Amino acid sequence: MPDAIATPTIGAEGHGGPVQIFYLKKGAARRPQIARAEGIYMWDTEGRRYIDASSGPVASNLGHGNKRVLAAMIAQAEKAAFAYMSAFESEANVKLAELVTGLAGTGFERAYFVSGGSEATESALKLARQYAVAKGEASRWKVIGREPSYHGGTLGALAVTGDPVSEAMFGPMMKTMPKVPAPFTYRLPPNHDADSYASTCVAALEDCIRREGPETILAFIIEPVGGLATGALVAPDFYYDAVREICDRYGVLLIYDEVMSGAGRTGRFLAAEHWPGARPDMVTLAKGIAAGYTPMGAVLAPDRMVETVAASGGFLHGHTYLTNPLSCAVGFAVVSEMVERGLIANAEKMGALLSARLEALKAKSAILGDVRGKGLLLAIEIVMNKETKAIPPAERMAVYRIAELAAKRGLLVYSRRTANGKYGEWLMISPPLIVSEAEVEEIVELLALSLADYEAELRAAKLI
Ligand SMILES: Cc1ncc(COP(=O)(O)O)c(C=O)c1O
Repeated sequence: MPDAIATPTIGAEGHGGPVQIFYLKKGAARRPQIARAEGIYMWDTEGRRYIDASSGPVASNLGHGNKRVLAAMIAQAEKAAFAYMSAFESEANVKLAELVTGLAGTGFERAYFVSGGSEATESALKLARQYAVAKGEASRWKVIGREPSYHGGTLGALAVTGDPVSEAMFGPMMKTMPKVPAPFTYRLPPNHDADSYASTCVAALEDCIRREGPETILAFIIEPVGGLATGALVAPDFYYDAVREICDRYGVLLIYDEVMSGAGRTGRFLAAEHWPGARPDMVTLAKGIAAGYTPMGAVLAPDRMVETVAASGGFLHGHTYLTNPLSCAVGFAVVSEMVERGLIANAEKMGALLSARLEALKAKSAILGDVRGKGLLLAIEIVMNKETKAIPPAERMAVYRIAELAAKRGLLVYSRRTANGKYGEWLMISPPLIVSEAEVEEIVELLALSLADYEAELRAAKLI
C-alpha cells in the first residue's frame, strides 16, 4: 500500500490547521482525511478503506451511516434542534430516559443526559455529594478511585482518575483523591495469582476507607470492565461482591463508570448485569449510548437520590447542552436500533468468537501476551517475552507502532501505553456491535499480519 500521509505535514499552515497540531510535532506526517464511512468500514479521501476495529475510541457501537439514526437526526432538527431545559421539556428527553432506565432496571429510575463521558463523571460526583449533604452527611466528600483508571479529562474527573502522568502535570490544579490498586489479572506482583491479588485490592479499599476516615468517604468509582487505562481488565467475580459489601458497610456510594463498558458493549446493556449481587448506586454512560452520532453522556441514579436532591433545593449543576433534544432523539434512535436488531446478544456472540480467535493468535504469536475483556470490549497486551512478560522498551512505543502498521494494512486499532507503559501496553480490539462473523475473521487476519510486521521489525533489531 502506498504511503497515504507523506504530504502535507503538520504545521505547514500559518494559522488554523487540523486539531492534530496540538498533538503532533511540527513536520510530522498528517493523518488521512475522512471521506465517508459505512458499517464497520471507513474510507479516506485517497480512496483507501479501513476497518474500524476499535470503533474509534470504543464509541461507534452501531457502525457508521445508520439510516434510522440519520433520519431521526433530521426529523428532530426540523422540529427543534435546541430548546433549553429551563424553558421546555422535550419529548426526545422523556422517551430516551424511559428507554434507558427501562433497560438499566431497578435502582436506575432516573437519567441525566450530558454531552460526554467526562461531563457524566462530573455530574455523578456532584450528584453524589449533594445527596450526602442533603442526607446530613456533609463530612463525606472524598471519592476513591483506582490506579490506573480513566474517568475523563476535565479536572474533577481527572481528580478521581488514576494516572500518574496526568497527575504530575495537573495535580497542583485539582484536589487529587485517594487511589487503591486496580485488580490486574495478568501482570501480577510476585507470589500472587489473580484471585489473591484481587483479595489484596479489596483489602486495600477497606484500609483506604479506614485510613482516610469512613465519615469522609463519599464514593468509590470503578470501571467494572476496564477501558483504555487497564486494557479491558475484568476482575475475578468475587471482587465485585466484596467491593459492594465494603461500600455498604461504610455507607460509601458505589459508582460504575460504564462510559466504555455500557450500552451493550459487553453483551449486557450494563456491564453491571454480569455481577447481579454487586449493583452499583450510580452508573455513568457515554460513547455507545449515542454511538458517535452525537456527543452524549448520561448518569443513571435511583429515584431516592434524585428526589432527595430535588427536595433539598435542586441539583446545583448544569450545562448548556444538558438534555439537548437533538442529541436525545439521536440517542433514542441509537439505543432502539441496538435493542431491536439484537446487537447486545450479537456483542456476546461475536465477542466469544473474537476472543477465541485472539487466543488462537496468542498461541502462535511471540509478542501477544494476554487477551482479556468481555463481549466486544476486548484488548490484547503486547510483551517482548511471553515467559517473563517483559514490557516493550519505552522508546519503541510498541503499541503505537503496531497501530501504524495496522493502519497501513487498512485496520484501525486504538492503543495505549498507560502511564508511559508502566502497567503494560495494549490494543483495544473492540469493533462495532454490528460486526459479522466474516468481519471478525477479516479483523483477526489483518491483525495477525500487523503483529507479524512488528515481530519482523523486532527481530531485525535483534530485540526478540
Ligand atoms: C471509562 C471512561 N470514562 C470516562 C471517559 C471520558 O469520556 P469523554 O471522552 O466522552 O469525556 C472515557 C473516555 O474514554 C472512558 O473510557
